[in-house]
Amino acid sequence: MNKYHIITYGCQMNEHDSENIAGLLEAMGYVYEEDPYDSDVVVINTCSVRENADKRFFGVLGQFKKKRRNDPDFILCVCGCMPQQPRIVEKINKQFSWVDIVFGTQNIAKFPELLEKRIRTGRRQREIIDNNPVIDEQEMKPKRMFRHKALVNITYGCNNFCTYCIVPYTRGREKSRMLQDIVREISCLAADGVREVMLLGQNVDSYRDAVGHDFADLLHAVNDIDGIIRIRFMTSHPKDISDRMIDCFRTCDKLCHNIHLPVQAGSDRVLKRMNRHYDTARYLEIVDKLRAAAPDITMSTDIIVGFPGETEEDFEATLDIARKVRYDSAFTFIYSPREGTPAARFTDQIPDEVCHDRFDRLVDVMNSISLEKNLEYKGRTYEVLVEGVSKTEDNAYAGRTDGFKLVNFTSDKTPDEIIGTLVNVQITESKTFSLEGVEVERN
Ligand code: SAH
Ligand code: SF4
Ligand code: F3S
Repeated sequence: MNKYHIITYGCQMNEHDSENIAGLLEAMGYVYEEDPYDSDVVVINTCSVRENADKRFFGVLGQFKKKRRNDPDFILCVCGCMPQQPRIVEKINKQFSWVDIVFGTQNIAKFPELLEKRIRTGRRQREIIDNNPVIDEQEMKPKRMFRHKALVNITYGCNNFCTYCIVPYTRGREKSRMLQDIVREISCLAADGVREVMLLGQNVDSYRDAVGHDFADLLHAVNDIDGIIRIRFMTSHPKDISDRMIDCFRTCDKLCHNIHLPVQAGSDRVLKRMNRHYDTARYLEIVDKLRAAAPDITMSTDIIVGFPGETEEDFEATLDIARKVRYDSAFTFIYSPREGTPAARFTDQIPDEVCHDRFDRLVDVMNSISLEKNLEYKGRTYEVLVEGVSKTEDNAYAGRTDGFKLVNFTSDKTPDEIIGTLVNVQITESKTFSLEGVEVERN
């Protein structure tokens, strides 16, 4: 039996692509193997969003050199966002020429053919496509990571060209799937036992299919699918979020009261140079509207510190907006210049030590707000969708509240009984990044 392993970096797009790649491999008769060094085929699905992602990838690649040399039947494949950049493919061909197969983000369906060719001819395969106008999803039968929740693409690519970001170059122009194709896929998932869907796009708010359905139309259509009990989505872009979409928090009962709304920076001058197309006043107006529509809504964000030209005053404006919004959680990043993006050519790059100092100060502020918010949960009871056994404790499970809070809790039930169901959990302990509790009877 041939065995495969997939190493995945990056965002949920990549995670879902890896599910699709796993599905393709299993259709070819491969079986999943936990240990990459005991596998016949290893796929490394790469991310390039920051420089440390690049570095990590080349490190991992180096680790396979010996296995590749000692085992002529072993096949190493590289895909994802890194090979969408010609300089990376050149580097692989020069320094890691023993890599067997390289493909990109836009021709995943081609992978079985490339693998079959490599096996038949023994020759290395490279095939990258830029801006594939075709969405090749018919062939895909993703092998899901979770039984009860699923990732579903609604758009591919990105047209926004934020000046720091590599994604528009690695994922191509934005394409929206047809509403009825998405609904059909989710109906099948529901029939297969999926309870929660996460709708994926780099900017879900710019979803528009060929017959004019927008994101609010899509949310209503998904809300009508029997069997689905929770709907999430990411990522929202403040420049495109509409009042109709915000209203869905009132009208779509399955829509979880949680939103990831990247602000990136709290200074209007910096936002402009980032090409984000909103200012802080507009952002705060959206936050107010969301909280009016769903008073218990939880919010998370992405923030970049040390963007070129960021002054101490600009940075303090970022701390300021964070304190105003009071995010439940935040992903904070030090700006990383990406070759080929406009901001990498800006001449006013910020010294490392200034970036690190600001990063540490930001993380302190964000974490203390997260903890304060989580402390409000203590003693209360929440509905939790159980995802699996807890990583931290025996006899315990992990799940999420409607607002996406991670809850580790104890229960007398067996994994088979409880996973994928909704249970009531009383919160006994609040931490910065999670809550703890015990299952209690439904009332
Ligand atoms: N489409 C999503 C985000 C995709 S990338 C959106 O627009 O929000 C995820 C996050 O990585 C971004 O929100 C941003 O905060 C961060 N990021 C992207 N490029 C970066 C870079 N060059 N340096 C540091 N952080 C970056
Ligand atoms: Fe990158 Fe901006 Fe597109 Fe998000 S919206 S993927 S940050 S270019
Ligand atoms: Fe990384 Fe590509 Fe996602 S660069 S963040 S894997 S779109």
